[in-house]
Amino acid sequence: MFANRLTEILGTQYPLILGPMRRITLGSMAAAVSNSGAFGQVATGLLRPADLRREIELACSLTQLPFGVNIPLIRKEASEYLEIAIDLGVPVISTSAGRPGAIVEKAKRAGMKVLHKVSSVSQGLQAQAAGVDAVVAMGYEAGGHVGREKTTTFCLVPQLVDALRIPVVAAGGLGDGRGFLAALALGAEGVEMGTRFLATRQCPIPAYYKQALLAAPDDGTFLLGKKAMPVRVLRNDKSLRIQNPNHDQEDAGVREQNDTLDYIDPKSDADKTLMMAGQIAGLLHEINELPEVVQSVMNQAAERARSLAAYFRPSRPASL
Ligand SMILES: Cc1cc2nc3c(=O)[nH]c(=O)nc-3n(C[C@H](O)[C@H](O)[C@H](O)COP(=O)(O)O)c2cc1C
Repeated sequence: MFANRLTEILGTQYPLILGPMRRITLGSMAAAVSNSGAFGQVATGLLRPADLRREIELACSLTQLPFGVNIPLIRKEASEYLEIAIDLGVPVISTSAGRPGAIVEKAKRAGMKVLHKVSSVSQGLQAQAAGVDAVVAMGYEAGGHVGREKTTTFCLVPQLVDALRIPVVAAGGLGDGRGFLAALALGAEGVEMGTRFLATRQCPIPAYYKQALLAAPDDGTFLLGKKAMPVRVLRNDKSLRIQNPNHDQEDAGVREQNDTLDYIDPKSDADKTLMMAGQIAGLLHEINELPEVVQSVMNQAAERARSLAAYFRPSRPASL
């Protein structure tokens, strides 16, 4: 039985979180993760409020277990998203893309738990002062929008653990039980995975996106859009063309980047689509059932912990 401060906050069996992914982790995927013993999340990014209500209701119809809702604070609908989450009895929200403020205060007054995503120690201290229950430390390796600081998960997590009193969740570059255990060794009390869950049968992205993930080598992603919010994507014709400094001006590239990221066309193909993914894509070799992913992360972490413990057993004196 795995129990720590994070499982208590989330109400889950495992301290493992499905990273919210806009237009991807909706009601059915959030419920599938929660039913597997981890913590599912419905991403609100780009959803109309009425659609969010429908997705939360769908998740509620598919699981009795807790799941959360992610609210990017820069969205003008952020307060409306929160109202809907409160109304439907969602116990936990995660906030990202902005400073915790009125939304966090209101969520706390409504009795919710709040996780806030950070990419630096100063952001972590601000989030703690704002009263959040835990921070998600997102490193440079992660898929999607990452912090401008470019600090890796391996360096960010222990510095946040030392600086904060609240639990730290590690996110970015973690895709199996080895990564899970390494994050705990750094002092994290939980792990959030995004890219790993993209390569599951239950993930609703098109087949060409999944195949592109499986084909990605270790350096198959890069950070696009240095001036705008940097976003980690798979390297393909589309992303390389937008990145190309000769492609019009920076503004045009950024506009195209945002427009394209907002919509994954199921009828398109892998060279015409911007596909967000983290550096850990290189570790993915097959599409798995989602509950198997959760179980194998937890089993592999436990196995590794046992075998590593052997290194630290006191050695017998040579005379014995
Ligand atoms: C396709 C994609 C979409 C994402 N969308 C969001 C989002 O809407 N909100 C958010 O907070 N994080 C978003 N993220 C980040 C994930 O929630 C998670 O923190 C990240 O994927 C962890 O790193 P990993 O990809 O190395 O596992 C996204 C990531 C990906 C790959």
